[in-house]
Amino acid sequence: MSSTSQVAPLAVLVFLVCATLASGAASVRVGLTRIHADPGIPASQLVRDALRRDMHRSAGRALGASDDGAAATTVSARTRKDQPNGGEYLMTLAIGTPPVAYPAIADTGSDLIWTQCAPCGGQCFRQPAPLYNPASSTTFGVLPCNSSLSMCVGALAGAAPPPGCACMYNQTYGTGWTAGVQGSETFTFGAAAADQARVPGIAFGCSNASSDDWTGSAGLVGLGRGALSLVSQLGAGRFSYCLTPFQDANSTSTLLLGPSAALNGTTGVRSTPFVASPAKAPMSTYYYLNLTGISLGTTALSISPNAFSLNADGSGGLIIDSGTTITSLVDAAYQQVRAAVKSLVTLPAIDGSDSTGLDLCFALPSPTSAPPAMPSMTLHFDGADMVLPAESYMISGSGVWCLAMRSQMDGAMSTLGNYQQQNMHILYDVRKETLSFAPAKCSTL
Ligand SMILES: *[C@@H]1O[C@H](CO)[C@@H](O)[C@H](O)[C@H]1NC(C)=O
Ligand SMILES: *[C@@H]1O[C@H](CO)[C@@H](O)[C@H](O)[C@H]1NC(C)=O
Ligand SMILES: *[C@@H]1O[C@H](CO)[C@@H](O)[C@H](O)[C@H]1NC(C)=O
Ligand SMILES: *[C@@H]1O[C@H](CO)[C@@H](O)[C@H](O)[C@H]1NC(C)=O
Ligand SMILES: *[C@@H]1O[C@H](CO)[C@@H](O)[C@H](O)[C@H]1NC(C)=O
Ligand SMILES: *[C@@H]1O[C@H](CO)[C@@H](O)[C@H](O)[C@H]1NC(C)=O
Repeated sequence: MSSTSQVAPLAVLVFLVCATLASGAASVRVGLTRIHADPGIPASQLVRDALRRDMHRSAGRALGASDDGAAATTVSARTRKDQPNGGEYLMTLAIGTPPVAYPAIADTGSDLIWTQCAPCGGQCFRQPAPLYNPASSTTFGVLPCNSSLSMCVGALAGAAPPPGCACMYNQTYGTGWTAGVQGSETFTFGAAAADQARVPGIAFGCSNASSDDWTGSAGLVGLGRGALSLVSQLGAGRFSYCLTPFQDANSTSTLLLGPSAALNGTTGVRSTPFVASPAKAPMSTYYYLNLTGISLGTTALSISPNAFSLNADGSGGLIIDSGTTITSLVDAAYQQVRAAVKSLVTLPAIDGSDSTGLDLCFALPSPTSAPPAMPSMTLHFDGADMVLPAESYMISGSGVWCLAMRSQMDGAMSTLGNYQQQNMHILYDVRKETLSFAPAKCSTL
């Protein structure tokens, strides 16, 4: 998750607080211990250590497990675009007992599952669904600070938690942040009664303060590799989604977690292995891919095969992220793509940085003009070519037509964003460590 702007690494700040936040009594005594006694060690480092430990826990078993350890059942969620030109895809799930349904950003670039909780102390953003109130749910609990899923467990260093201990977090993303208390709840998945599944004991963030930029959602569902993600907590093993066309906020598709997530019956499936993620947070959250080249039409661009290499220190690499909108490429590769696109277009080029944040744009003859035809772009992954039609790498609106990619500077990772994933059926097989994909009309699935 980082939307269209600069990708900053995920960071988390945590505090231990003393809570009496039992269901039915949402009052809290605040301000026990600030974790970092030593100003030289940021609290976020402590959390990273804690999460790293969690990474090595055995996978969750919430969905039950068959003999080979794979989850035995599947959960599903209807998924749709937040708004025609918004940047995120939303999945619908429900929290608590009785269940309160809400839309949440589906984000493979982070782990924490969170929603806004009442009361919100004035720092809530406007959400399209009723606010979930833990005091009105019979299944809410504060997550114990010594739970292996507590972001504060590392700070305890094996000591018993203070009575009533609760863990407060402040999770920052590339854009925005959210803060609250870690809780545990029963979640309900699936729209129709037939495919409904209720899963108890999911650790989640009960946010009572957030930045203002989560428009269209009531929170976020982390689908990353870390222990706190929905994928890990369910022990799902694999999951799939199909992102509907970017400008279509009416259609829905289905996100599946568990054994039914599969591309069987689909033609044109390609598979590429994930590159092992560094054990260090936040990189340990990400799904890295091995991108070895890019072509425009039949022309292979002059890009070093090492341009997207993941370095031993965790710098570089390319991840696939459903929560980032625009693909970013390491500058050397971006400049090649930019020049190749520019060479094929005879329309006047304009700098769209101010209005769109994209630096290669063209003026169309009129706001209603159709853009000229462009060849497809191929991303050559290790063992699998991903073919992007022009609609998946060029974006138009208000008479401006832009390359929907940007340059990634400063040695940061490159990111395959959701704009480039539209109309593709994508399967993350976490057990087999492969990503599979096939072109699809997602709005009809
Ligand atoms: C959020 O909740 C925490 C503890 O649960 C409390 O300390 C804090 O003041 C609350 N923040 C707001 C903005 O209400
Ligand atoms: C957490 O601490 C409580 C109270 O000290 C203890 O009863 C419980 O067994 C601990 N749980 C874990 C997972 O360590
Ligand atoms: C959370 O962190 C962000 C970014 O550092 C900061 O702007 C915000 O005020 C913090 N929120 C809370 C409630 O601490
Ligand atoms: C989506 O629905 C709205 C309202 O019903 C309608 O105005 C719009 O044309 C629809 N868009 C698409 C892409 O179907
Ligand atoms: C694909 O295969 C899985 C198990 O291998 C199965 O559960 C699922 O129903 C199949 N899906 C389709 C569309 O055939
Ligand atoms: C990436 O793919 C290339 C081409 O298949 C292969 O030679 C290389 O070893 C791969 N790198 C990693 C880190 O998997």
